[in-house]
Amino acid sequence: MSSATTKKIMPAKRLAGSVHIPGDKSISHRYAMLSAIADGVSTLRSFADSVDCQSTLECLKKLGVKIDRQGSEVTIEGVGLGGLRPSAEPLDAGNSGSTIRMMTGILSGQSFRTVIGGDTSLSRRPMKRIMDPLTRMGARIHSSEGGLPPLSIEGGSLVPIHYEVPVASAQVKTAILFAGLYAEGLTEVVEPHQTRDHSEIALKQFGVEVGREARTRTISVRGRSHLVAQDLVVPGDISSAAFFLVAGLLVPGSELAFQDIGLNPTRTAILELLKSIGGDIKVLNCESRNGELVGSLQVRSSSLRGGEIPRESIPGLIDELPVLAVLGTQTEEGLIFRGAQELRVKESDRIAAVAENLRKMGAEVEEFPDGLKLPGRQSLRGAVISSYGDHRIAMAFSIAGLIADGSTTIKDSDCVQISFPTFFETIAQVAQ
Ligand code: S3P
Repeated sequence: MSSATTKKIMPAKRLAGSVHIPGDKSISHRYAMLSAIADGVSTLRSFADSVDCQSTLECLKKLGVKIDRQGSEVTIEGVGLGGLRPSAEPLDAGNSGSTIRMMTGILSGQSFRTVIGGDTSLSRRPMKRIMDPLTRMGARIHSSEGGLPPLSIEGGSLVPIHYEVPVASAQVKTAILFAGLYAEGLTEVVEPHQTRDHSEIALKQFGVEVGREARTRTISVRGRSHLVAQDLVVPGDISSAAFFLVAGLLVPGSELAFQDIGLNPTRTAILELLKSIGGDIKVLNCESRNGELVGSLQVRSSSLRGGEIPRESIPGLIDELPVLAVLGTQTEEGLIFRGAQELRVKESDRIAAVAENLRKMGAEVEEFPDGLKLPGRQSLRGAVISSYGDHRIAMAFSIAGLIADGSTTIKDSDCVQISFPTFFETIAQVAQ
């Protein structure tokens, strides 16, 4: 991705209108991978237009899967559980942690060797967390020093495991469940905290036997089942909507509407949190579509109290924390969160990036190894923001720019393509 792009953000007087949110990135990855190893042809509509999900499609193509994409409609000719073919060249996961971790789960079940890597940001992200359980299942996985990508994976017939995941990570859980499809018997994963459950829902939708024990947070998958092709519609990504929910709350006199947003309860902690501190957010309808809840949202600008985000809420808010930090500076009491050390190993060190950029905008911030303290009622001034090529940093500080004094320049702004290619156009549509 080009790193020379910059975007100028001017303060907004008011935001109004209907916001189009692209398809959910997390769900799109899972639907694509499961369609590829299903029997039959799957059609995925409103598929995420993100570069990350395109990376997943390109990896699948290199493994011999025929994929046709017309805009946001993707048709995938499934090759069946045992039908993937060796790739002549290494797979490129680009910037996408989901692609490398979840694909490694599937690749662990293949009898051939595959190399998968990505860009410089991905090459710094920890992979030991998937290598440990997948190795226990029988895969042979080599990494660069320190458990970093690229990974070389040689799999084959796997054995089921019972595994307690040490970090709350839906990507790790998914890698094990996907590998479990290639193991004879029941693979069980125990989570330290509930994380997004799109894999469990999607596996069931594709016809796999999935067991769930809420009390012990155990998920099981029965291996060697046949997956059946599906016609599915991907809901809008609530983590992308979060930027405009925050913008709608912060820019005075605003009112924004959102349709077809994924409202899976493992993703809606952002709504609960914003409502609990005084945010005027309404869920207007909610229905189940292929096991996922989908509905409309409305947000109006509000005065916000702030407070402390409980530790147990952190896994459910992990992608929203950068924009919540921006919001924290505008609350009455300020905002504090701890227990979010995972933010340091995302597409960038998001704790450091948020602290640095807020300070550039004139805000006071206290940085902890695992969190941030944002005093409230601070005014922000326009600044030159380093996105570190991280889409969520670029977007969080674009929202900060809407409420700052003067203009804000976002460096490496093109990185929004990773999850929300139409982000800046969407700002232009709703800002007045
Ligand atoms: C994701 C899980 C989370 C999240 C990421 C998407 C997923 O990562 O931050 O954006 O789709 O499973 P971790 O599994 O590393 O927490």
